[in-house]
Formats: sequence, C-alpha cells, structure tokens
Amino acid sequence: MGKDVIVACDFASAAQTFAFLDKFTGRKPFVKIGMELFYAEGPAIVKEIKARGHKIFLDLKLHDIPNTVKKAMSVLRNLDVDITNLHAAGTKAMMEAALEGLTREDGTRPLLIAVTQLTSTDQESMERDLLIKEPIDKVVMHYAQTAKAAGLDGIVCSPLEAGKVHDTCGNGFLTVTPGVRFADGEVGDQKRVMTPAQAKKIGSDYIVVGRPITAAADPVAAYERCVAEFCD
Ligand code: C5P
Repeated sequence: MGKDVIVACDFASAAQTFAFLDKFTGRKPFVKIGMELFYAEGPAIVKEIKARGHKIFLDLKLHDIPNTVKKAMSVLRNLDVDITNLHAAGTKAMMEAALEGLTREDGTRPLLIAVTQLTSTDQESMERDLLIKEPIDKVVMHYAQTAKAAGLDGIVCSPLEAGKVHDTCGNGFLTVTPGVRFADGEVGDQKRVMTPAQAKKIGSDYIVVGRPITAAADPVAAYERCVAEFCD
C-alpha cells in the first residue's frame, strides 16, 4: 500500500457515518473506525463500510494478556479490514500473539501497527503515573523497535516523529500519523500538528485526518485538498 489519507470517522452512529460517507460520490476515502463507532454499532458497521468499497483502519488499540489478544485478533481477522492496531505496552509477547491470531489460514492478514505512548501522555504523566523515567522520545523509539522485532508493520506516531522512526526502524516500517491540520485551519485540541504537505516531506506513510475533513463546510473538497497535498 502506498501513501494515503485516512479519514477518522469519529461519529457516534451508523446514520451519521453514512450521511458523511454519502457525500463522497467519486474517490472512496480510506476510513478509520474507532472505539466509539465500533462499540455503538458493532462489527456490522465495519462490514457495511467495507461493502461500500472503502479500505478500513480499525482503531481498537488492543491491550490484554497475549492469549486474550490472540483470540480477539482471530475474530477481527474475519472482518477483512486493511489495518488494525494494539498497544506496544502489552509487550513483545502480546504483539507476537496478536500477529498469530490475526493471520488467516491462507497466510494473509491485515497490517498490524502499534500505538507507542499516546500523544495525550507527556513526560510528566509518564514519570508520575507509569513510573517510566526515560525521556519520552527514547521510550517511543524503544517501543517502535520492539514492535518491529515482534514482526509488526509499523506504528502510530506524531508526524514529527515519523522521520526518526524511519531512521531507527527502516523506511519499510510504516508510520501512521494523526495530528494533521491545514496551514490556514483550526488546531483544536491537537498540540503538535503538521500540514499534509509537511507530513509528506517528513516521510509519513499514512496521515489520519478527522475534523479538518469531517467538520469542514465541504468535506469532499477538504479531503481532495489533503490528497493533493499529501499523495500527489
Ligand atoms: O480530528 P482529528 O484530526 O484531531 O482526529 C485525529 C484522529 O486520530 C482521532 O480519531 C484521534 O483519536 C486519533 N489519534 C490522535 N492521536 C493519537 C492517536 C490517535 O489524534 N496519538
């Protein structure tokens, strides 16, 4: 898979999601389904969006004992999504078990990527609440290397970290980066942001874009602008 723009469909219901996706009559965007929509609508929403011809990143961030994650992944593999994820903090053993569970009998599987430290976690909360005293950048790179050693395909990270992740783990290791804003757009609650063009320059493989597209007056035009800046 090449560079692409993934639209974060952070909606509370299938009705809202389809009202949004119905606007796209031409190119079908790659769609991210997160916990809110998945827990509200269940696996059916994944199948329905897939049936409409969209690629899907199922963002459920699994984190449990290896056996439980393996079994959960062996259920998710039947949904035929393109990318799914877990927390690298679950350890290498959990990531290896996840890959095993995700791999279908014919050897195919969705791409599996890891969340390192959430962007909502900062140095202070990591030291205070998690008792991790190392610099956060070092922790993120260590988690990325562990995910790679476990056989995963890449990580979710800030576009600001994508270059360093590629330097550390190789260019074939995917970087999927949220925190993207247009130069003339609202930043909202994201703290460290980049434009799609900057994310392209630094080497992100996929950008995850939510509100700059979902809350735009013309979502299709906003999506096409992202694609033009990032992919073309
Ligand atoms: O609306 P916005 O463009 O900020 O949406 C970004 C999407 O990426 C949301 O679905 C958010 O949950 C997700 N995300 C993020 N930062 C992370 C991981 C995921 O913003 N570190």
